Amino acid sequence: MCGIVGYVGQRSAAPLLMEGLRNLEYRGYDSAGLALLHQGRIAVCRRVGRLVRLEEALAETPLEGHVGVGHTRWATHGEPSEINAHPHLDSEGRIAVVHNGIIENFSELRAELQAKGHRFVSETDTEVVPRLIEEERRRGAPTLIVALIRALARLRGAFALGIVCADEPDALYAVREGSPLIIGLGENETFIASDVPAVLRHARRVIYLRDGEMAVIRADRIEIRRLDGTVVQPEIREIDLQPEAAERAGFETFMLKEIHEQPRVIRGLVRDHVDAEGRPKLDDLGLSSDYFQILRRVMIVSCGTAYHAALYGKVLLENVTGLAVETDLGSEFRYRGPRIERDTLVIAVSQSGETADTLASVRLARRKRCKVLSICNVRGSTLARESDAVFFTNCGPEIGVASTKAYTAQLTAFVLLAAHIGLIREELDPTRVTELIAGLRAVPDAIHYVLDRKDSIRAIAYKHHDGPSSLYLGRKFNYPTALEGALKNKEISYQHAEGYAAGEMKHGPIALINEYMPVICICTRTLDEVYEKMISNIREVEARHGRIIVVANDGDERVRALAEDTIFVPEVMDELSPIVNIVALQLLAYYAAQARGTDIDKPRNLAKSVTVE
Ligand code: F6R
Repeated sequence: MCGIVGYVGQRSAAPLLMEGLRNLEYRGYDSAGLALLHQGRIAVCRRVGRLVRLEEALAETPLEGHVGVGHTRWATHGEPSEINAHPHLDSEGRIAVVHNGIIENFSELRAELQAKGHRFVSETDTEVVPRLIEEERRRGAPTLIVALIRALARLRGAFALGIVCADEPDALYAVREGSPLIIGLGENETFIASDVPAVLRHARRVIYLRDGEMAVIRADRIEIRRLDGTVVQPEIREIDLQPEAAERAGFETFMLKEIHEQPRVIRGLVRDHVDAEGRPKLDDLGLSSDYFQILRRVMIVSCGTAYHAALYGKVLLENVTGLAVETDLGSEFRYRGPRIERDTLVIAVSQSGETADTLASVRLARRKRCKVLSICNVRGSTLARESDAVFFTNCGPEIGVASTKAYTAQLTAFVLLAAHIGLIREELDPTRVTELIAGLRAVPDAIHYVLDRKDSIRAIAYKHHDGPSSLYLGRKFNYPTALEGALKNKEISYQHAEGYAAGEMKHGPIALINEYMPVICICTRTLDEVYEKMISNIREVEARHGRIIVVANDGDERVRALAEDTIFVPEVMDELSPIVNIVALQLLAYYAAQARGTDIDKPRNLAKSVTVE
């Protein structure tokens, strides 16, 4: 969603703000703009479309100044247009505001301000913010900070703001209430940003603003206050990421780079969470063995790809811990009045740790006095801070909008967690745990093997990419793989794709199958009857002349004989096969998107981090 950057220092601000915005492009946007303070005035430049349009405009009419804010907007209120792009100004052009999030009561504020004579130029909710600050100044607020505090008290919703004012030419204001914002501390210069990659090159120390905090930032000092004006002591953290982590490292896209990072990410998780005896090591998780023993129920909540990880977590946890496990989408859970009690562990899965519906679900769970364990990638994120315990997936920044390495890391986290809980509850005997962990150790090499096969996957994708639709089928552990494979395909190639539990096919989607329909069947070997059932489903597709593409284990000639095309993957333990199989489907979607010529890292209409409902 929208990206905010801001700068105060000695250097020319515009190139630094543009660099920051480029590093936030992955969040998704449809217009962008900058506002710089210079010679007692504010100069603004905004453009619709990609950042290159803004760069061209700045090349024609450069903006000068050492203090400023920048923004990439993902339209919520009002279409993507130059007039709706941020920054937004007060009526005299003395205050510029960039905003991420939603001001829920903007219509009433707008009506009130209009009654006082304000003429709004945009359709956005944001524009009420500079107008409210202006109004408070008119009404006699002695300083900008007082005007700001009074204006903020009128806002409802979730937001992060970056603000500059022509009357305070050396200051940048930052506010956080429900949407993430960080302060990056460089050498005699300071940045603000929605996310760490925006500042990684110039700042190695950061302050994560907390909800209800604001900062007044000058080149030589920073003051942080609660929104009621009381001063708070900032907590400064070192960033342990290298700037290269947010770069493409020679790959044509971030997504392809991130797909290739998966073996390393999984190896890292195994290294950090398995002890010398080959048992899970999660003692620092923050939930005691006693707690896991008395636990009765687990509820997993998340959205999108993270929800598919939750579906996998459910099957695995039920299989190895004996616990009853349910899953729900964040957006449903928060409104359906869930019957959860203290004996329920709520597991929230989120790459960003900032997804609005997941966060709201966690807050609801905590109000019901449940413990919350999050599986999260971003340290310092709101989810990580609000959970009782966190399993960090430690993938490094995921920049490609379509999630890849975060997903396989979430699956890996569930394996380690399930083994840990299964052992504590004595549902899993130690030999089985060591087998599972040994199986997990084999997964990175199996993924390498799939990556090495990418040319043949590309050929299959190029052959089938141009149809209007495709169907993905899987069962048991690989039912979530089917859903996730279909999601990847539609997100980045814009080809309609549907994921289904293979056994459900005959209850509806079978009507779609004809000689033009690619049907991707995940049919890797399993030790139970699911493999045979999957073969029966493939035969049902065959009987209706569907174009069958199978994901099968090496050497499985029986399945190969049924298919038009086969993607071979190495055999790993049943439970772990989704971690390998999805990599084949990520590549299939990737090359379909490449063949269809889409913008793979920044697919249309999508945002990386969905911080509004
Ligand atoms: C899909 C994708 C989204 C996210 C979803 C939740 O590729 O990335 O579906 O999985 O928006 O995001 P997080 O995991 O940040 O809560």
